Amino acid sequence: MEKLEQLYEGKAKKVYKTSDPELYIVDYKDDATAFNGLKKGTISGKGSINNRVTNHLMKLLEKSGIPTHFVKELSERETLVKKVTIVPLEVIVRNIAAGSLAKRLGIEEGVRMKSTVIEYCYKDDALGDPMINEYHILAMEFATKDELDKIADYSLRINKILTDYLADLGIELVDFKLEFGKTTDGTIVLADEISPDTCRFWDSATGKKLDKDRFRRDLGDVESAYQEIMKRLMGE
Ligand code: TMP
Repeated sequence: MEKLEQLYEGKAKKVYKTSDPELYIVDYKDDATAFNGLKKGTISGKGSINNRVTNHLMKLLEKSGIPTHFVKELSERETLVKKVTIVPLEVIVRNIAAGSLAKRLGIEEGVRMKSTVIEYCYKDDALGDPMINEYHILAMEFATKDELDKIADYSLRINKILTDYLADLGIELVDFKLEFGKTTDGTIVLADEISPDTCRFWDSATGKKLDKDRFRRDLGDVESAYQEIMKRLMGE
């Protein structure tokens, strides 16, 4: 399957049409941004690591009954996926307080939440991806009630599957961001990526951050943290 016309270029990926109208190719970049594009840089090898880590986790989720857009890994950086219309939501799932939640609620990073938190943001760069609730989602018709119920159910199931899987590898899943899409027949599937760009991964033993916070906060060792995640998940 070959790349045809480029449909879209985002901050971390490009998306191409293929000869099959139901399939797209995503191509992962090494470019990194933070704070809605204000901070820009490159994380060498990130595209390939995020592609491979995402596909590894999508396959694990598929096996556990979560439908995803994943079809086939084509190369180090390229993956064949189902064509979907992205539901314009960032679904954030949190187990431990960190980042914007710690700031908003005035609690220390690292405090475990008494129960899992789901947040929704409206995917709109010009507005800075504002946080919204279920009422906004229904009133703005970003998703129907049935779709949103499914998205929340999948998100909690994904949290359980990934938390358990990563715990065995000595990684604490602090929080993460998911995106869902709708296939041509209307099925809701997990889309986008699950990678150190979109998750907070802390080493269970030392608490070391093994994710994009190293780039966001200028902590150093960015590339080696991404490599460490790939090594723990895939043994290389
Ligand atoms: P936050 O604490 O900055 O709101 O981030 C919560 C989670 O969402 C964290 O795992 C990083 C991820 N995330 C993205 O994937 N994309 C984004 O644009 C932002 C702001 C966060």
